[in-house]
Amino acid sequence: MRKTTLITGGAGYIGSHTALALINAGHHVLVLDNLCNSCRECITRLEQLTDTHVDFINGDMCDPILLDGIFSRYDIDSVVHFASLKSVEESVRKPLDYYANNVAGTLNLCKVMAAHEVFKLVFSSSATVYGDPAQTPILEDFGTGKPVNPYGRTKLMIEELLTDLCHSDPRWSIALLRYFNPIGAHESGMIGEDPKGRPNNLLPCLTQVAIGRIPELTVFGSDYPTVDGTCVRDYIHVVDLANGHLAALQVMQHHSGINSWNLGTGIGYSVLQIIHSFEDITGITIPYRFAPRRLGDIAKCWADPSKAGRELGWSAQRGLEQMITDTWRWQSSNPQGYQSSIETPARVAVK
Ligand code: NAD
Ligand code: UFG
Repeated sequence: MRKTTLITGGAGYIGSHTALALINAGHHVLVLDNLCNSCRECITRLEQLTDTHVDFINGDMCDPILLDGIFSRYDIDSVVHFASLKSVEESVRKPLDYYANNVAGTLNLCKVMAAHEVFKLVFSSSATVYGDPAQTPILEDFGTGKPVNPYGRTKLMIEELLTDLCHSDPRWSIALLRYFNPIGAHESGMIGEDPKGRPNNLLPCLTQVAIGRIPELTVFGSDYPTVDGTCVRDYIHVVDLANGHLAALQVMQHHSGINSWNLGTGIGYSVLQIIHSFEDITGITIPYRFAPRRLGDIAKCWADPSKAGRELGWSAQRGLEQMITDTWRWQSSNPQGYQSSIETPARVAVK
């Protein structure tokens, strides 16, 4: 049997780009996803991009019998764990769903991993675990803060759970990768972000305005203490983010214990800077209007990614122009996301 990396949530946005990076680097991967926020078509696209069969199981990580069967059938030596519900707004309305899926699902996964003596885990954490940081850029040793919503609290709880687990048994090797704001898409335009229902994040909202699915963009808040009054974030290209997982897996071959790494670029852009860059790059005017601040938003959030540079040999390579060009190529080639067509999408020119 071939050594296999299990990717939970591998049909989702970041998981699919990471699956592609791992396959291209020679890993054998198995994707487990219940498709609650993704499509089977994504796996087909991965197969087209890699010209190989991708092992895929449509199932739920919360199902212990299913997981036990998977670990018995495949020679899994590491897990990259993306599967999660991720809508901040929904988590406030349905906290039990978030704690059950994200926290209990991770607990279930870890129990089955331990039973099968698989001890390498890369976890999708988030800058949300820092809460509202006292200063920027954010360093890992600032310590975690107080996330302001149930989704954020699930990420912090999982980090704490994994820390306890690691301290209990030296065989564990766990990477907590704290993502800043992933945007962009693979340069082929074949895979990208395809949220089910109305999007909440800035770039999906912006591109859906650009293709006419949403009439105008709402900009939440114009009175933050920032360069132009709108919030500042550290946007990172999803392909750079995917490569961060590859780097973490390589380092974990030789290290045990738990470690956290910021995956960001170290550069912050405001909401208005993003809108104006998008307009310059695509030539499309974005109608927008200001609205009051969104509950739970912080003014500024960007990373100091130097620890990942030193310890993982990783740094983001793609700038804002490429992030926007690739986001727009994906969205304009696939106006309805993966539902647009089961055909290979046509390439769309970007100014
Ligand atoms: P996504 O929704 O596109 O991907 C998550 C995938 O997990 C989906 O395909 C979904 O169907 C699957 N899933 C959810 N629950 C499952 C379950 N119980 N069993 C099996 N599959 C399940 O989200 P994404 O943007 O790719 O995020 C991936 C990870 O990164 C998540 O853990 C998310 O919390 C984290 N993260 C995302 C962001 C962001 O802005 N996108 C930022 C920080 C952290
Ligand atoms: N924004 C708008 N209009 C929109 C959508 C967003 O003005 O329609 C603004 C927000 O107010 C915020 C900025 O754009 O100022 C970025 O918002 P996103 O929702 O894209 O991202 P967040 O920084 O709020 O959160 C994201 C993920 C979280 C994760 C966090 C840190 O959604 O899961 O980054 O990693 F925790």
